[in-house]
Amino acid sequence: MIDLHCHLLPGIDDGPETLESALQLARHAVASGIRFSMVTPHMHAGRYENRAANIQRATEDFQRELDAHGIALRLRAAAEVRLDHEVLAWVVEGQVPFVGRWEGENVMLLELPHSHVPVGADKLVEWLLKQGIRPMIAHPERNKDIMRSIDKLLPFIRLGCLLQVTAGAVAGAFGEGARARAVDLLGKGWVTVLASDAHNLEARPPELEPGRIAAAAIVGEDESWNLVRYRPARIAGLEAN
Ligand SMILES: [Fe+2]
Repeated sequence: MIDLHCHLLPGIDDGPETLESALQLARHAVASGIRFSMVTPHMHAGRYENRAANIQRATEDFQRELDAHGIALRLRAAAEVRLDHEVLAWVVEGQVPFVGRWEGENVMLLELPHSHVPVGADKLVEWLLKQGIRPMIAHPERNKDIMRSIDKLLPFIRLGCLLQVTAGAVAGAFGEGARARAVDLLGKGWVTVLASDAHNLEARPPELEPGRIAAAAIVGEDESWNLVRYRPARIAGLEAN
């Protein structure tokens, strides 16, 4: 399986603090059937000041550690970009590493605030689309506004945003509200990929399989594999074997 959203790099955001805990996360990912992880540290103005260059360096360093420890996980550098006005400058300066390509456009993993959908968020999305960037909305099922009303998501669907739902949310690990919304989104056929959004072994582990199994009950076995293997591979430009 291929995980397009996770926080595995040590000491770069709110993922693992130490190399040892990062290695444990990577071992867990491999044991749970993940062979490729797009590492997506937060780019969040004033909080996590990551940019393409330091993320790339940290990813290469951690890949060397994985190789040295015999952990069969391939990494690539991307980012989870918090929606804010700074995003415009980051894009113009080429500071955002993308998670891949979709229909000829670069795919940016875009995170809304958890509490609400900001006014004007659709305008930023329109601007990104004009730059040839297709946003993939991170974990919409956990946004409070979208949990209350799915209508809040409609402008993003109409604009053609991709959706990344958290695998654990489908399996119920983020509560009933998030699970119910994740199920709605799957039922509508709007979900592009499932990803782990892994941060740690306890609350947010690097696992896709429990979510895939839960999703299969809604979308069927074939589509469940599209969510964790074939579509992520297409976005990342990988062979899906
Ligand atoms: Fe994340």
